[in-house]
Amino acid sequence: MTSRRKIFVGNWKMNKTPQEAQAFCETFVPAVNGLNNVDVGLAASALLLPGLTTRFRGVQWFAQNCHWAASGAFTGEVSTSMLKATDVGGSLVAHSERRQMCGETNASAGQRVAALLGAGLQAILCVGETLAERDAGRWQDVLRTQLSEGFAATGIKHWSAALGSDPSRPLLTLAYEPVWAIGTGRAATSAQAQEAHAFIRSWLKESLGSDIAHRLRIQYGGSVTLQNVDELMGMPDIDGALVGGASLKADDFAQLVARGARIA
Ligand code: 13P
Repeated sequence: MTSRRKIFVGNWKMNKTPQEAQAFCETFVPAVNGLNNVDVGLAASALLLPGLTTRFRGVQWFAQNCHWAASGAFTGEVSTSMLKATDVGGSLVAHSERRQMCGETNASAGQRVAALLGAGLQAILCVGETLAERDAGRWQDVLRTQLSEGFAATGIKHWSAALGSDPSRPLLTLAYEPVWAIGTGRAATSAQAQEAHAFIRSWLKESLGSDIAHRLRIQYGGSVTLQNVDELMGMPDIDGALVGGASLKADDFAQLVARGARIA
């Protein structure tokens, strides 16, 4: 058994109009409100967040990206102060789609994490290998590089303080999202996912110490569905899920989260 509280976050990506998002929340938020042993969040487009955060307080709200600078000439980006002023609790960082399509690097990911944590906001830092990297037997090297370069770029030395004051909700969460499992319907098996999560946790232990390694939550993401959530969440190092496609329908995602909460 682990003392880590599971965290389920729906990543809507570039989906939903304000009206669709509102209709989703009217069903989803009451459906998950009784689940008090898990954290439940939604990562929505920055354009949707202002219309949702104060109206639907029963879930945690995340942006999908956040810049490290306080303000300035960064077209298309959002700042931590914009998120705070909109009652957004945190942001995804370095999702593989941003790594692949928007030039996100391990160094920029680390800077984003540092800005979020410094502002008292949550960061969900995504890592994961491509299919070619897995087939070449390089997944551990890829994860090690993403973690070591990303953490180094945060510049954070005192992790215990940086993770905030609530021991059950450290401000940083990691998400293992193998690129080959994202949107493909081909999830990692629970054994593959557990192996990668255990690898990440052992890297955390070596690099940041066993206390931090034990506290940090590691979500799995990549084709999580109602069908595979039980098995994945039963693994000792899997502390929740980051869900794309299966988070788009309110009833289905509420069921998925409720299933996960039973295993928490
Ligand atoms: P899918 O659940 O659609 O595979 O997406 C996973 C993901 O990218 C979540 O961030």
